[in-house]
Amino acid sequence: MMNKEKIRADFPMIQSEFEKGRIYFDSAATSFKPKCVIDKVVEYYTKESANIHRGDYDLSYQVSSEYETVRKLCAKFLNAKSENEIVFTSGASSSLNLVAYGYGQKFLKADDIILSTEAEHASNILPWFKVSEVTGARIEYIPLDKEGIFDLEAYKKVLSDLGNKIKVVTLAHVSNVLGNIVPIKEVTRLAHEVGAVVVCDGAQSVPHIKVDVQDLDVDFLCFSSHKMLGPSGVGVLYGKYELLDVMDPFMLGGGSNARFDICGNILLKNPPFKFEAGTPCVEGVLGFGEALKYLMDIGMENVEEEGRELHKYFLEEMLKLDNVIVYNPKSETSIVTFNVKDIFAQDVACYLNSQGIAVRSGNHCAKILLNVIGASETIRASLYLYNTKEEVDRAIEVIKGVTLEKCIGASI
Ligand code: ALA
Repeated sequence: MMNKEKIRADFPMIQSEFEKGRIYFDSAATSFKPKCVIDKVVEYYTKESANIHRGDYDLSYQVSSEYETVRKLCAKFLNAKSENEIVFTSGASSSLNLVAYGYGQKFLKADDIILSTEAEHASNILPWFKVSEVTGARIEYIPLDKEGIFDLEAYKKVLSDLGNKIKVVTLAHVSNVLGNIVPIKEVTRLAHEVGAVVVCDGAQSVPHIKVDVQDLDVDFLCFSSHKMLGPSGVGVLYGKYELLDVMDPFMLGGGSNARFDICGNILLKNPPFKFEAGTPCVEGVLGFGEALKYLMDIGMENVEEEGRELHKYFLEEMLKLDNVIVYNPKSETSIVTFNVKDIFAQDVACYLNSQGIAVRSGNHCAKILLNVIGASETIRASLYLYNTKEEVDRAIEVIKGVTLEKCIGASI
């Protein structure tokens, strides 16, 4: 059981005068940061400002060592076999693009198949459009059920129809619109039977549920620090070492090569360093380390359990409202996506804002999914470990009372 009061006290945004009494239900876009994360970033700038892996002086050694300690911690958090399987990037989008470029563009060829779904976030489908354009590989979509949920039986049928032409299966572990959990372990087991690699977009799963990469056996996992209490500008690409080893880097530059000469010969370093050209977001990685420690101290099992309980409560209360359509009544994690009947989503979101409730409205970057669920715009409320049942109760009261007149009033 989490001590909610203690957790809320750790978040300056919750304690700030401006935000006091306001309800932040947009953690799927980005989470608030606990004080330990903010302090670490400030400490870097005030006491540790040096580049890593480059300077021959104490401070640079110290910061380099802290940076590499975060890599180890992240490997532990994911139960990766080695810290060399952890590549720091600028975010989940950057990680997904790196796999598409470094693996997809290098190894796929005409008529190979990239298997995905219509529920993907732009960052997990647009890079594969590019792979398809460059290589001639084709994208096929696993049919979703009518609520937009991943359908294991439909997936099995696609695997049996297309078999070993499928080279990549790329899926969000948790949809950023519907919050449903894709059975990625089983997806991966079956993908491996036809010889495909699995790319898992973990942007919405890693912050909320325990993810063990060895247990899931995914080949790649991509996620962002900023959605899991850490700073922006930092992401992770986990990859099995043997795959990272054969992949091309997206960028070349300082820090990623061991040698180069005037003839253009380049000897790249081993993973993960060959993927980390240029000065990284050092302060962000150090802050991310604090976020990992914070979550590990609470325990991801507890984060998950608490998240599911709060979500269940919110969902049940939303399903009782007559003026609301909920699009993900079977979701399990953090997200409730809805519309107030006959009112444009953004008008409702503006009204909720006027009542101190922050939500996201629109297509949530998953532009194909909305055709599947039959709504061009929705409102997404997404919760995290600092939210409370009391906030849910207050939000429900406001949502219950939404009318067109109030929304128009709020938009003027
Ligand atoms: N990818 C983030 C979201 O779904 C920004 O809101």
